[in-house]
Amino acid sequence: MAKDIWIGDVQNGDYDGQEVELKGWIKRTRGSNKIRFVVLRDSTGTIQCVAKRDVVGDDAFEAIASALIESSLIVRGTVNVDERSEGGHELVVSGIEIVGPVDPERPFPITESAMKAADGGETEFLLDNRHLYLRTSRMTTMLKMRSSVFGAIHSYFRDLDFVEYQAPNFVAGAVEGGSTLFEVPYFGRKAYLTQSWQLYAEAAMPALERLYTIAPSFRAEKSRTRRHLTEFWHAEMEIAWASNDEVMNHGEGVVRHIASTLLDERREELQSLGRDLELIGRYADSPFPRMRYDEAIEILQGKGVDVEWGQDLDYSKEKILTQDFEVPHFLTHYPKVAKPFYHRVDPEDDKYVLCHDLLAPEGYGEIIGGGERTWSEQEILARLEEEGTPKEAYQFYIDTRSYGGVPHGGFGLGVDRVCSWLGGADHIREVIPFPRDSRRVTP
Ligand code: 4AD
Ligand code: MG
Repeated sequence: MAKDIWIGDVQNGDYDGQEVELKGWIKRTRGSNKIRFVVLRDSTGTIQCVAKRDVVGDDAFEAIASALIESSLIVRGTVNVDERSEGGHELVVSGIEIVGPVDPERPFPITESAMKAADGGETEFLLDNRHLYLRTSRMTTMLKMRSSVFGAIHSYFRDLDFVEYQAPNFVAGAVEGGSTLFEVPYFGRKAYLTQSWQLYAEAAMPALERLYTIAPSFRAEKSRTRRHLTEFWHAEMEIAWASNDEVMNHGEGVVRHIASTLLDERREELQSLGRDLELIGRYADSPFPRMRYDEAIEILQGKGVDVEWGQDLDYSKEKILTQDFEVPHFLTHYPKVAKPFYHRVDPEDDKYVLCHDLLAPEGYGEIIGGGERTWSEQEILARLEEEGTPKEAYQFYIDTRSYGGVPHGGFGLGVDRVCSWLGGADHIREVIPFPRDSRRVTP
């Protein structure tokens, strides 16, 4: 049953003039009582198959004439170079076998007209049928891009000898503030779904020194925006003996590596999504400027935006700020009041913390949050007290500082956000197979 021949390779010219057997699904079908044109798709591409009644015989011809969209087939025939066909090749069919037929009572619901009626992709209809929508070319393209992004993150860190490390997903406390914690019943107690791998990575930092992960994180985000999921994929790293600047070098390194990997592996996909390859090349090649938070506030105020010093920047502000950016920019030195307890206070001015956010251009905004960590036990205790955060859930974290604390730092990168920005998606839902938000856990 194995499959030997892929449509993408046929379209590349690997089988010109040869007899082949193709396996796939019907994307479109049309024709007359004598000749049928079936566009067959597989995971690598599409090809038009031409079946004539007088060649294939009546039985096979009737089978193909009645087969509906998304029926699965095995088709045999000869590859013909034909410039008029999409992709430059067609298959002249000699035999056909329907493997998984589609019931005419329940035709495939994701048709072009249904999609148009559903307004291009973001409606309940397509989300309800997500399990079928995955087969459309746009979604398939996004999923291939996503795979390359994951691969690039792994190769960036592994090539630098980082160790992949796993943290628990059931946890006892918040990392990024209590308001977005998901509570789960846990044998008569309360537990939470993790917002970040970070605190458990810091515990292993003295053991491994350079560590990373790609794992789901959970945030009970009530507001539904184009950048927020309740379950998202989080690439995080932690490194010992590193300053905020050195951590930023890795954030810049991994994002540039993702851009260059996409240019290597997904050129066609980027083009089919309407992305400008020169722009992606700039993200791969140009250094990312670094700017202090205060400077960003001045720029925003200069544009007449109503923003006060001390606020974290929300999407509306990041959007305005990043509209004129040519490449991603780091914002550093946020006010202490805007960030959680674990950030290291700037020894030069204790109003600030040594942290960074990386803001993607094209009006996209935050894709990375990170910085240096408070590593002395006294300072952590003081910061928790200042924040009014009870320390019980963090006892293990505080404890790690009593035994050889060292300067260290790390960041978290929103993988779905990076896919969305680089793929030019309008909404983060477009780049993840089964998106989760406050209203939906199905399908
Ligand atoms: O800025 P955040 O909240 O930082 C942390 O969680 C740190 N503990 C990470 C660390 O230092 N190890 O989240 C990091 C990134 C954000 O910049 C954003 O890209 C992404 O995670 N993110 C989300 N992506 C999709 N949906 C959400 N609800 C997200 N929340 C955060
Ligand atoms: Mg953040």
